[in-house]
Amino acid sequence: MEYRFALIGYPIKHSLSPWIHQQFLKKAELDGEYFINEITPDDSFEEQINKLKKMNINGFNVTVPYKQKIISFLDEIDQTANVMGAVNTVANQNGKWIGYNTDGIGFLHSLKNRFPELHEDKSSRILIVGSGGAARGIFYALDAAGFKFIDIANRTIEKANVIKKLGSSTGNVLSLSEAEQHIGNYDVIIQTTNVGMKPLVDNTIINVNKVPPETVVSDIVYQPIKTKFLQQAEEAGAAIHFGHSMLLYQAQYSFEIWTNIKVAMNGLDRELQLILEGR
Ligand code: ATR
Repeated sequence: MEYRFALIGYPIKHSLSPWIHQQFLKKAELDGEYFINEITPDDSFEEQINKLKKMNINGFNVTVPYKQKIISFLDEIDQTANVMGAVNTVANQNGKWIGYNTDGIGFLHSLKNRFPELHEDKSSRILIVGSGGAARGIFYALDAAGFKFIDIANRTIEKANVIKKLGSSTGNVLSLSEAEQHIGNYDVIIQTTNVGMKPLVDNTIINVNKVPPETVVSDIVYQPIKTKFLQQAEEAGAAIHFGHSMLLYQAQYSFEIWTNIKVAMNGLDRELQLILEGR
């Protein structure tokens, strides 16, 4: 059987997903392709989705700006996608189009793979910085995995409050300056906003130059691979966790939904890092 997957979004010409899924197909020894199906703002979204559905594909990924818009074109969405209000993976299951969201769980798996001891210790004190879609997914996955203490800091406090209510973990909602003041209180700090992304690489949402060396500091931005946020943390002696790893693990979970195969990651993390460093 030949697998066929696609990606919809705009703009996506430079997406890394085709490369990642081609590596997965190779590792799983499956024949297939993963193609880019860009939908521009001038296209009719409905027409494009109907065309895609008729192409006899096994599934597709959905990225910005269509993660919400796609929902009304699906037959069902799973519980996580429902709570997120966003879908990043669609599977064709016996002719029904089912939506999932693998972003949060992808982050959780990437963290677990790099810091297994952290994942064992559910009393780790966690700070999530930001309250957009990515923060929501990450908070929900960490909370569901049983982490007991999660603070959320955001420029707009109300958005952090909404996310906090999705889970049962303890922890507080903080302003960005409060988080910076108490930056030494955490075992794990996760930066989930786009602050620091190319081209504005000198920006950091809060300073982490005073984190204790035993802290794990993560940034979901992967262009540049080592953001200023991560540079500061590294200079303070903290362990850093790169954003491209979330990209890989959310893709791994999408691929598993489509094929029932969980591919081994060995080497891919490093290969993707080299590609990004060359950009
Ligand atoms: P995504 O869905 O990709 O996570 P989003 O929903 O647009 O993106 O959320 C972006 C996040 O980055 C939000 O937490 C946003 O803060 P607000 O909720 O206050 O808008 C945060 N953000 C973006 N630019 C920022 C900036 N310059 N300073 C502080 N926070 C910023």
